[in-house]
Amino acid sequence: MESLLKTWDGESTVIQYDRPTGAWIIIAVHSSVLGPASGGTRMKPYPDLAAAVTDAHKLGMSMTYKFAVAGMSRGGGKAVIALPPDFDAQARPDLLRRYGTLVRQLDGLFETGPDVGTAPEDMDIIAETGSPHVFCRTEANGGSGDTGEATALGVFSGIKSVCEHLFGNASPVGKRVLIQGVGSVGGHLAHFLLEAGAEVLFNEVDLALISHFRDEMGLTYIPAEEIYTALCDIFAPCALGGILNKDSISRLKCRAVAGGANNQLAEPVDAERLQARNILYAPDYVLNIGGAMHAIGRELMDLSETEVQEQIRSVQQTMNHIFAIAESEGITTDEAARRIAEARLAEDEK
Ligand code: PHE
Repeated sequence: MESLLKTWDGESTVIQYDRPTGAWIIIAVHSSVLGPASGGTRMKPYPDLAAAVTDAHKLGMSMTYKFAVAGMSRGGGKAVIALPPDFDAQARPDLLRRYGTLVRQLDGLFETGPDVGTAPEDMDIIAETGSPHVFCRTEANGGSGDTGEATALGVFSGIKSVCEHLFGNASPVGKRVLIQGVGSVGGHLAHFLLEAGAEVLFNEVDLALISHFRDEMGLTYIPAEEIYTALCDIFAPCALGGILNKDSISRLKCRAVAGGANNQLAEPVDAERLQARNILYAPDYVLNIGGAMHAIGRELMDLSETEVQEQIRSVQQTMNHIFAIAESEGITTDEAARRIAEARLAEDEK
């Protein structure tokens, strides 16, 4: 634990043990160079505290890069609420209120929105004590609501850039896209792709979602054991991170990876492994900015829905730019995105 906290390059790690439930609350503030650290609240069980802290650290850092690449005046951070294995769902509202109190005490150092395991209804509860540092309350409660569709729009825009780069035409019509996880983001992505004439395949663990997308929508279901070997043009990870590793990359039969899940690369060298296999990688944090862009655009910048959508669609141009830099400099797309982010951060630190 000690070395985890010491070696992280972020600004601060706040850890609170929630005695009534046995949950751990971790707020990782990676960087406030470009503005207050913003990031979602991820709530799920973890094997141990170290795993939860590591996840918060990595996710917080991605938020810094996400905002920097997008040119937004926000820093990066992330909260993780690591639930105990025997967590009683009835204890959830009070846990969220205590978490909100902690956010409030940080007085603007960190502001948050939904992530894996939390939804606008949770933001309503967190905001009871955490306001004004909580985005994405339900619309009924004056917030901007769910971010799934906005995130999916950004991913879809990134996929258009991938299509242009690989096939010379930004339209995904006729392209076969395999979505891993058709939840909040992946589900909306499926709809955008279908509307654009793509062929959509998917994998999912939730039975109700499988039945909806396979039986009602008629999409091809790919079982878990075939997810990394199924033939497709674009593989779109929209579930959890760490899925691009030495083993899975050696098996992929796609031309590109472009999805919304955070932290898809298990380790940085996986970007090189993808490149060596001639698989075009669209960095996750570039593609999945749409959710945060929507929340901040609607709630802080007073933008209309149409204006925010326009802004989210700019992911396509950002990706075009990153592909162009990667090509001209002979570096991975991941490195190209990182250079853009780091240049912006260095510029602001001056
Ligand atoms: N889940 C969002 C992301 O990873 C987090 C977020 C949502 C941050 C809304 C700010 C506002 O980008």
